[in-house]
Amino acid sequence: SPTKRFNFTVEWREVTRLCHTKRLLTVNGEYPGPTIDVHEGDRVEVVVFNNVERNTTIHWHGIKQFRTGWADGPAYITQCPIRANHSYTYRFKVTRQRGTLFWHAHLGWQRASVHGAFIVRPRSSSSYPFPPVHAEVPIILGEWWNVDTEAIESDTIRYGSGPNVSDAYTINGMPGPYYPCSNQDTFTHIVEHGKTYMLRIINAALNNELFFAVENHTLTVVEIDAAYVKPFATSAIMIAPGQTTSVLVTTNTKPGTFMLAARPYVSATIPFNPTTAIGFISYSTNRVPASREHGDLTFLPPMQDTAFATQFSNNLRSLDSTEHPCKVPKEVDKRLFITISLNLQDCCSNCICKGFTGKRFSASMNNQSFTRPATSILESYFKNTMDAKLINSFPERPPHPFNYTGPSTLDMKLNTEFGMRLVAVPHGTRLEFVLQDTSLVNAENHPIHVHGHNFFVVGRGFGNFEEGRDRAGFNLVDPPERNTVAVPSGGWAAIRFKADNPGMWFVHCHLETHTTWGLAMGFIVRDGPKASQQLLPPPEDFPPC
Ligand code: C2O
Ligand code: CU
Repeated sequence: SPTKRFNFTVEWREVTRLCHTKRLLTVNGEYPGPTIDVHEGDRVEVVVFNNVERNTTIHWHGIKQFRTGWADGPAYITQCPIRANHSYTYRFKVTRQRGTLFWHAHLGWQRASVHGAFIVRPRSSSSYPFPPVHAEVPIILGEWWNVDTEAIESDTIRYGSGPNVSDAYTINGMPGPYYPCSNQDTFTHIVEHGKTYMLRIINAALNNELFFAVENHTLTVVEIDAAYVKPFATSAIMIAPGQTTSVLVTTNTKPGTFMLAARPYVSATIPFNPTTAIGFISYSTNRVPASREHGDLTFLPPMQDTAFATQFSNNLRSLDSTEHPCKVPKEVDKRLFITISLNLQDCCSNCICKGFTGKRFSASMNNQSFTRPATSILESYFKNTMDAKLINSFPERPPHPFNYTGPSTLDMKLNTEFGMRLVAVPHGTRLEFVLQDTSLVNAENHPIHVHGHNFFVVGRGFGNFEEGRDRAGFNLVDPPERNTVAVPSGGWAAIRFKADNPGMWFVHCHLETHTTWGLAMGFIVRDGPKASQQLLPPPEDFPPC
């Protein structure tokens, strides 16, 4: 199989948006960063040179990294960071997946500006399971912050709080004309009349789920997280941070200029940044608009439209064709019931309280608030140098019998345990996680991302997960396959997958604030008996700690 090579230099670049100029961390000076475009089956080599006075790493979000966990990227999980003036070459093969993914920095909040599209085309021999498209357009949804995101990150760590609302949402790095001083930074794409385009939509935002729609055009969803779905038509999509969605758009209306729009989906009535990023598609018979007055945005669902978001998620089904069968495990070997909580923590000596008297925020899974280690967990696992704390198994059930839909006073008082525990499973274990939100703050879904594997979302619902009733309703025929699931606020999601990728894999909320507060866990998949079921040794240039 061919090898595709890329060079990434992490460097500062001055970027201006909303009339604010600031130094942004970028790859090759681009914001968003360069697109990686490969075919299924290719070997990929990315030389990452760190040209800034900061540590960094890059993660290939959704790439399975089969046997090559060394190239996965999360800092202190699978590798130590790439230090200033050092480089590390990420080497991996893209197998068993095709579609839209992305890459991003995986240290602190660096992914705010260090991200780009990662496109996996089908092997040249096969083609899309839908009619050919005229052209493909990556649409990266993100956030712009006038202030330095490193300052927000350190507030989040030190105070357990801090401002976490960005100044603008962006489409391919551009906020568009609905923000002050922003007309000149509008993404515009010229299209031809009567053609079908594929929009490869990526939510690279740090903290917000988004609705996305194209004015006067229907979107046909064909793929999510690099797995095909049964095509369906919709007026808008809901996309959580960490998720990707490919849609087909046919330019068959009366030629003109039409808005692309993205704004948050938030289920609560708490104050949130209600602004909208705008871009345009323009049929070639029309000139590009220089600016546009605030138009009618009713083609987008309202910000709190949970009914729309839920229906959209329910419409997602695996394609499940002869060529792309749905491989959901019908039976499971191990089940974990995992609560997802935001906690108010009594302040300790090393945390400064701000905003709450004697309290700070933390977040946890089964009451474990993840604390990252000082060295790479994958490396210590491989070298057999893990200390006792690391090999404790993760609790299979939460320590307290919550009523998850009841008043949230209980978990508000509940201090979590800080630490790092892992689940270790034999190669090939069929796992089921029921992820239950405990709804202290009913505001956002938690987009839970699993590294190293795709999983099947066999069920999702509101309120408490009820063993008999809800398990009976699982979809074991054509559940959607993905790498990030939005666990409903005040509800649950059940996922199943076969843990067949040897190594150490991170599981975390893709809302950066929550991950910083500790909403994360990890699991180890042990080597299987065959050589092809074993983790490869680390590469020679693997960064030391
Ligand atoms: Cu896209 Cu662990 O992340
Ligand atoms: Cu979360």
